Amino acid sequence: MWPIERGLARLYEEREVRGNDRLLRAIYHHLAPLHDPVVAVALPLCGSGRETELRRRAIARMALGELGPDPVRILEVGIGSGSNVGWIRDHLPAGVRFELWGVDLAEGMIRLCERRWSEPFLRLAMADAHALPFPDGFFDRVVHIGATNNYRDPERALAEMGRVARAGTPVVVVDERLDPGARNSLYHRAMFRLVTFYDWAPRAPASLVPRDAVEVRDEQIARFFYCLTFRMPAGGPSSVIRAAGPFEAT
Ligand SMILES: C[S@@+](CC[C@H](N)C(=O)[O-])C[C@H]1O[C@@H](n2cnc3c(N)ncnc32)[C@H](O)[C@@H]1O
Repeated sequence: MWPIERGLARLYEEREVRGNDRLLRAIYHHLAPLHDPVVAVALPLCGSGRETELRRRAIARMALGELGPDPVRILEVGIGSGSNVGWIRDHLPAGVRFELWGVDLAEGMIRLCERRWSEPFLRLAMADAHALPFPDGFFDRVVHIGATNNYRDPERALAEMGRVARAGTPVVVVDERLDPGARNSLYHRAMFRLVTFYDWAPRAPASLVPRDAVEVRDEQIARFFYCLTFRMPAGGPSSVIRAAGPFEAT
């Protein structure tokens, strides 16, 4: 049994939210209305290109055009205010029936998403990336943009994303890393330090993807962002950590 508060299910155990996750949740919850305007202005100002371009590249890695004709389920972990919802919807082949599930730990953020989108395909819940409340192989696509570097345990969160993804489907993870292959001026380095002030070594957690993951790709998709893509092999992931309790979609 999970509590439902003002229409939103809380699918995590409070005692399991620890360390960095508590801090991040408080920051995102209280500063939620600032998130989108800051991202829209800060990225170009800092020299990392436009937010729309970052999202376009990230969503392209999901290969949404290959889905269908059967109905599909997609998961965004850390959905925030729902800035990727329209991108995901618009990149699916016309006519494909789909559910987009979005989970987030910060109520302030997910309430923004709730207000912004009242689409029947959207299913929102509060949940922790470290214990996704879904059965194995439940989703046809899994995406996360923007918080992996700061998770309490990124390895566990990646294992969870792999666990809930159907075998062979891309799991797409995007977060901050200063492009090691670019000429980064003092300005770029200073700006990167400013936007990642809470993290001393932002990097792609490529070494932390599940041991049996295949087709692991680590790319830089903007000056300040990497995109890590991997797939789980058929037969089920072996390095999984079970979620606290499965939550069935209806
Ligand atoms: C930088 S925002 C990005 C939001 C959205 N994905 C986007 O692209 O605009 C990161 C989001 O991850 C959420 N988050 C942070 N830690 C989390 C966790 N452990 N489990 C679930 N969501 C988390 C935050 O509350 C926040 O909404």
